[in-house]
Amino acid sequence: MKSKAIVLLIIFGMVFTAAAMAAEVPNKGDAAIKLDGGKKGHIDFPHRNHQDTLGDCNICHDIFPQKPGVIKDLKDQGKLKKKKIMNHCRGCHRNMAKEGAKTGPTSCGKCHVK
Ligand code: HEC
Ligand code: HEC
Ligand code: HEC
Repeated sequence: MKSKAIVLLIIFGMVFTAAAMAAEVPNKGDAAIKLDGGKKGHIDFPHRNHQDTLGDCNICHDIFPQKPGVIKDLKDQGKLKKKKIMNHCRGCHRNMAKEGAKTGPTSCGKCHVK
């Protein structure tokens, strides 16, 4: 009898944990994302680092949805101008660098990797 109760308790605990995880943990996507950079070579984008430093998801996701490969897909469909996201990335790095803050790269070869 006692062991039956323990089994039930364990099952209940597992169901509860699964439900809590599904309800409360938002999908933050991959920690690091490899972005297509055309002929210039790909970009190793530290996604989690930006989420943690910037705080606001919409700084980027106002421009494109939270979906893997979406930037390339929208560009291929002609719905997003080439280098538009790049200018967004670079623009922020530039502005922060001007203010003397710690930020990301502004030169081509520091973002693009061949
Ligand atoms: C500095 C820009 C930036 C910020 C801020 C940002 N993201 Fe992203 N996110 C990206 C890029 C770039 C991609 C990749 C899009 C692609 O593959 O074309 C992406 C993709 C995603 C994806 C798709 C899955 C994946 O891993 O590719 C999810 C989910 C996501 N982001 C969630 C979030 C959440 C939640 C936040 C806030 C906590 C956030 N992002 C903040 C730039 C950003
Ligand atoms: C802060 C990072 C960053 C820097 C610095 C940067 N790029 Fe990019 N570049 C990107 C990203 C991200 C993309 C893909 C998204 C887009 O096209 O907006 C891209 C895309 C490109 C593309 C492909 C466009 C296409 O779709 O055909 C070319 C070409 C390019 N960059 C050239 C350059 C050159 C030249 C420089 C230096 C003057 C440069 N990039 C600096 C991040 C960067
Ligand atoms: C609103 C400002 C902002 C935007 C937009 C932004 N970044 Fe950054 N980026 C930062 C800051 C701040 C850091 C420095 C984070 C730290 O302290 O490690 C950084 C760092 C980086 C680094 C260097 C990471 C390292 O480990 O040295 C890369 C590469 C980078 N960003 C690429 C990108 C790309 C690609 C995009 C666009 C998809 C982008 N960033 C958009 C602010 C931004």
